[in-house]
Amino acid sequence: MTSGEDGKGMRKGLTSYGDAGFSLFLRKAFIKAMGYSDDALNRPIVGVINTFSGYNACHRNAPDLVEAIKRGVMLAGGLPVEFPTISVHESFTHPTSMFMRNLMSMDTEEMIRAQPMDATVMIGGCDKTVPAQLMGAASAGVPAISVVTGPMMTGSHRGERLGACTDCRRYWGMYRAGEIDEAETEEVSGRLAPTAGTCMVMGTASTMACMTEALGMMLPGGAAIPAVAADRLRHAEAAGTRAVDMAKNGGPTPAEIMTPEAFSNAFRVLLAIGGSTNGLVHMTAVAGRMGIKVDLEAIDKLGQETPVLVDLKPSGQHYMEDLEKAGGLMTVLRELKPLLHLDCMTVTGRTLGEEIEAAAPPFKQESCGLSAIRFIRRVVSPSCGAILPRKALS
Ligand code: FES
Repeated sequence: MTSGEDGKGMRKGLTSYGDAGFSLFLRKAFIKAMGYSDDALNRPIVGVINTFSGYNACHRNAPDLVEAIKRGVMLAGGLPVEFPTISVHESFTHPTSMFMRNLMSMDTEEMIRAQPMDATVMIGGCDKTVPAQLMGAASAGVPAISVVTGPMMTGSHRGERLGACTDCRRYWGMYRAGEIDEAETEEVSGRLAPTAGTCMVMGTASTMACMTEALGMMLPGGAAIPAVAADRLRHAEAAGTRAVDMAKNGGPTPAEIMTPEAFSNAFRVLLAIGGSTNGLVHMTAVAGRMGIKVDLEAIDKLGQETPVLVDLKPSGQHYMEDLEKAGGLMTVLRELKPLLHLDCMTVTGRTLGEEIEAAAPPFKQESCGLSAIRFIRRVVSPSCGAILPRKALS
């Protein structure tokens, strides 16, 4: 019979076939058809949520991430078990992807709860997927780490840098105005989304990735690594390794991480990155799953005192790969430190403050201009993504 503590690993959440011993015997008989050894089945189990879909180019690299996460789990002595949930891409969900977010959250929650796993690594990316997975993890209560597929690299058209989807609308406007012809629109459509990954502007996907890192549900540094970068795979491997520790320790759980203060940090980051207003809609839903009511007036107050630090499209100039070159979200978190709840727990088992302290040292952000509108201040950096120097917080 499978060894290990009751309620862990393969013993967890037995399907009822009468007595528990027979239920476990039957489960083991079926899972052995996958070719697992008894040794493998005795390990802590990490469920790896694979959201690859032929309709979802934002998740095109999910199979590579699955392999990297599995490698990380096995390096730490765990058993990774991959399983699917639905995958939602913005342009392939009629009539709107918003209906599908809650469906995906229920799929995620129920499959985490129904299947035996001690921790889970959730691969999300496209707009609705990350909030759906956080909602599901919040309700399921199993230790969980979010890994995003990461942003696309920018494209280029006749010497101009392009990014989905800020430039999609602009070029369509030019076509409607008769400034470009149909042939050129076809050319442009092949260059707006040139690699695997999520939209590389600070749209909903990038916003949710940044907020999730700030929330503590993602390993530090994970929000901005490009989808096609080797670092993205190393990040995924590290998530797999960390998930084994979480599986062994039984935490930190989503409830220990997603506290009111952690949501406050996430909203603070939403404001500082000039993120999508959808970030408010989605993170409010995630907080709701934790029984936390978001006070919109309190968020408005945060807005009065939070500087905009990041200059990315659609409100600014740059792209996610520039933010990564500028040090990623950790650079933003470091600048926001006086405004954050630093004692919030993260998936690493350390607090947000400890992670900021442990991060690579800051480097000079070259700025070439500064404008201040009330409390909103922005630095433009043509070289590496525009992050405001610390003095702007004083
Ligand atoms: Fe998937 Fe933009 S369509 S992130």
